[in-house]
Amino acid sequence: MARMPIIAGNWKMNKTPGESVAFVRELTPKIADYGEVERIVAPTMLALSAVAAALRESPVQVAAQDAHWQVDGAYTSQVSAAMLTPFVDYVIIGHSECRAFLGETDENVNRKAKAILAEDLHPIIAVGESLAQYEADETLHVVRSQVIAALEGLSAGDMDRVVIAYEPIWAIGSGKSASGEVAEDIIRSAVRDTIAMLHGDDAAESVRIQYGGSVKPSNMEEFMSQPNIDGALVGGASLDVDDFAALVEIAARVKGS
Ligand code: PGA
Repeated sequence: MARMPIIAGNWKMNKTPGESVAFVRELTPKIADYGEVERIVAPTMLALSAVAAALRESPVQVAAQDAHWQVDGAYTSQVSAAMLTPFVDYVIIGHSECRAFLGETDENVNRKAKAILAEDLHPIIAVGESLAQYEADETLHVVRSQVIAALEGLSAGDMDRVVIAYEPIWAIGSGKSASGEVAEDIIRSAVRDTIAMLHGDDAAESVRIQYGGSVKPSNMEEFMSQPNIDGALVGGASLDVDDFAALVEIAARVKGS
């Protein structure tokens, strides 16, 4: 089964609502024709409503950068998946910056995945090892356990709505990316094979898996040429309209049918 390539721009804590809207107005015409690629922007929570309104007639979709697992309640500062449904199609969870700075745990990533699926949204679940774990040869073990924990209690049928982003922490924002071959190897053996073990080959074949970590136009082709890499979760390069458009064009050229 052909998996649709998926490029998501994670803007992190960048761009005000006004800047976010101006950006998508400039970006959309440049990437409108690439219907064979799913194109997603993930602005700050504060900009979701305005960006969703600006993209209402557009093929570009919107993601949130996190969501709480409860529908509502006494959770100061949090936004629930239910509250996000008018604005987004995707929610990024488990990002290493949330794991490192906000105490995100595997258990909560799993709760969030279930809440997101219950709202008919799609989770983009980020996993990845630290530099120390990479150097200690623990990558496969770490990534496998993050995948198993994140998917605990989900069904095989949920898998075609789940996206996994493999992001080695040492490659995020560092300018150092994993090589295409190394990323392919880890994605196949620690992510896709793990899902096959949990939910069978068909479910594993349907899951889209992104690579993330210093993806830019100059290395995009190397990642997109790998059979198990279905797209990219992009930070820095997604803040630039021309770079973002170039990434989509490369994905369409390399993976498009
Ligand atoms: P980067 O970020 O592309 O700036 O390395 C990727 C991410 O954190 O998702």
